[in-house]
Amino acid sequence: MVCGFMKGFCEVVMGQEYGSSSKGEFRAVVSSNRQIGISFYRLTLEFSGAGAEAFDGFGPGQFVQLDVSGAALPPVERIPDELADAARREILLRRPFSFTDVTREGDKTVADLLYCVVGPATLRMTTFKAGDSVSVVGPLGNGFSVPEGKKKAFLVFGGMGTAPMQHLAKVLAWDEKERDIEVVAFAGAKSVHALPFEGRMDEISQQLGFSIREFAKYTIESMVATDDGSSGFHGPVTDCFLEWLKENKPSVEEAIIYSCGPEAMLGKVAEIAKERNIDCQVSLERRMACGIGVCQSCAVECRVEGSSETVYKMCCEDGPVFDAREVVF
Ligand SMILES: Cc1cc2nc3c(=O)[nH]c(=O)nc-3n(C[C@H](O)[C@H](O)[C@H](O)COP(=O)(O)OP(=O)(O)OC[C@H]3O[C@@H](n4cnc5c(N)ncnc54)[C@H](O)[C@@H]3O)c2cc1C
Ligand code: FES
Repeated sequence: MVCGFMKGFCEVVMGQEYGSSSKGEFRAVVSSNRQIGISFYRLTLEFSGAGAEAFDGFGPGQFVQLDVSGAALPPVERIPDELADAARREILLRRPFSFTDVTREGDKTVADLLYCVVGPATLRMTTFKAGDSVSVVGPLGNGFSVPEGKKKAFLVFGGMGTAPMQHLAKVLAWDEKERDIEVVAFAGAKSVHALPFEGRMDEISQQLGFSIREFAKYTIESMVATDDGSSGFHGPVTDCFLEWLKENKPSVEEAIIYSCGPEAMLGKVAEIAKERNIDCQVSLERRMACGIGVCQSCAVECRVEGSSETVYKMCCEDGPVFDAREVVF
């Protein structure tokens, strides 16, 4: 993860070197697969042996490629109408996913994956059950980094961008504890039903600023923004973030923004960061066929420092985390 724009960011990569030579194909055992909300599921995977070692140092923002080809379809009544045609498609390619949490438990490494049912692969994933064996390729990609001197981190995310942000929140709050970085999370969704969280998201918890349980457990303040106003701030999460910045005026040198979610949201976050000269790392999503830099299906247009030219980088190998200044949105 070394490039002109990221030089200052490379001093500390969450305390260790990711993307190590230990990446490979490993088998994981499903320990649970639980529905949380209308379209979201939390899948817990257990790695042992070499897999436990390989995923022990998995960093926030890194990802895995999951083989879903052997998974069964759910019964017809559990297939949403809008996915009825797509459901029939065979799953040839692996699918990329981040983890929301990774913990070492004795000789096992346990990883939590939060997924949204959007197509044939994620639909089939809903039929995974405890004891199933799944092939996982990883750890892949670079992951987020914490530059020296940062004291305030803003996590701005929407949709499935939530997954790596939950993992990052834990690492910032616990693993980076001695650096004493204050974290504030801003979660956006179309409506309260599209928020992939458990627990209450009501007015009282909003007023306390600890509305999202998944962040509150790390004593991280969180704000919710919904497009329809059904919970929290009424409007885009980027507007909610802007208001917070205007009110609180953090020191820009000590601040860093981490963002993951829909590309339009990332573009807006990048703009906010640029206008205020705040460092910002964005995690991009691309369709990924191979996940290892071979097929070129995941190209990202990037600026060349000190020039008007652009180059294409591979989201799977050079990313998925990029300095926001580098990406052409
Ligand atoms: C690095 C990375 C990390 C990811 N982490 C997560 C995660 O933690 N949880 C999660 O639910 N999803 C995550 N995704 C997205 C996930 O890979 C896709 O939702 C999944 O592959 C969809 O497969 P499918 O067969 O169900 O649907 P498909 O039929 O493949 O896709 C359904 C719809 O989603 C869109 N789509 C699918 N994949 C992508 C993509 N990569 N980028 C943009 N649009 C896409 C398609 O255009 C289509 O409209 C991640 C993607 C990347 C690149
Ligand atoms: S997914 Fe094949 S090069 Fe990135």
